[in-house]
Amino acid sequence: MTDKNRTEQKIIAGVIGTPIKHSRSPLMHNHWLRAHGLKGTYAAIEVAPDELEPRLAALAAEGLRGVNVTIPHKEAVFALATERDQAAQKIGAVNTVIFRKSGGFLGINTDAPGFAASLQAAAAPWAGGPAMVLGAGGAARGVVYGLIEAGVREIRIVNRTLERAEALARDMGGLGASLIPLPWDKISEQMIDLALLVNATSLGLAGGRPLDLDVTLLAPGALVTDIVYAPLETDLLRAAKRAGHETVDGLGMLIHQARFAFEAWFGILPEANAGLRAALEKDLQK
Ligand code: ATR
Repeated sequence: MTDKNRTEQKIIAGVIGTPIKHSRSPLMHNHWLRAHGLKGTYAAIEVAPDELEPRLAALAAEGLRGVNVTIPHKEAVFALATERDQAAQKIGAVNTVIFRKSGGFLGINTDAPGFAASLQAAAAPWAGGPAMVLGAGGAARGVVYGLIEAGVREIRIVNRTLERAEALARDMGGLGASLIPLPWDKISEQMIDLALLVNATSLGLAGGRPLDLDVTLLAPGALVTDIVYAPLETDLLRAAKRAGHETVDGLGMLIHQARFAFEAWFGILPEANAGLRAALEKDLQK
């Protein structure tokens, strides 16, 4: 099928946000729509905060199955949802909307299970020991919930602003994990017995501030992951590899959260195959 034919097809799902031009979601979802012979296309839809509610209603009226939600709308869409799954409820953010035929919409959060799924391919026994999550923003909330659901029993939440780490620990309490908020200067001493280290801050993003950690303090066998995927190999992951650690990059979370959203709309859990990953890697180099 040519690109022209595809753009003439009906839009059946999409991603809303601003800026949205650089979203990789259309690449993934259109790949899966084609692979499964489903008619329709997935679009990147620019939506400004002041037009969020009417645009959502208009997209529902146009017959879309649903939309993904990205920056800066995840919390606002959470507030507008007429139903929510437990992950969204606990995280306080929605990344996937499923429009209901009877009106209203279900808001779910596939970032959390997407993050946990991205770790499943790792050989290291990451769920069996303490985890440390750096950050306490929206991304960190998804990571912490995903780790609790995956059975991690102790999570140290480290954040520059301690109050946010404390609030996160409070909000995710009662789910069976011990959540320990810590200030940034405790990282080194709390790193030595970790089974898993996750960067869920914006540090390490291309063009931004670096994340400066001494990964040689980690125990051998600790798994190191970064939710930042631009660059794909962050300084943290490079240093961890050099120190002999297994690593998981942020592309896995991106792909797996998309798989679960696709399943919620179309009832098919698509594959995270090597071809798709390669296409994404190529796109990230642009
Ligand atoms: P997101 O929704 O992507 O998580 P966010 O809510 O803005 O975005 O959170 C960004 C995270 O990166 C926060 O944990 C933030 O720490 P604060 O809560 O103290 O702001 C962290 N972060 C950003 N810049 C940082 C820096 N220079 N040093 C340490 N942490 C930083």
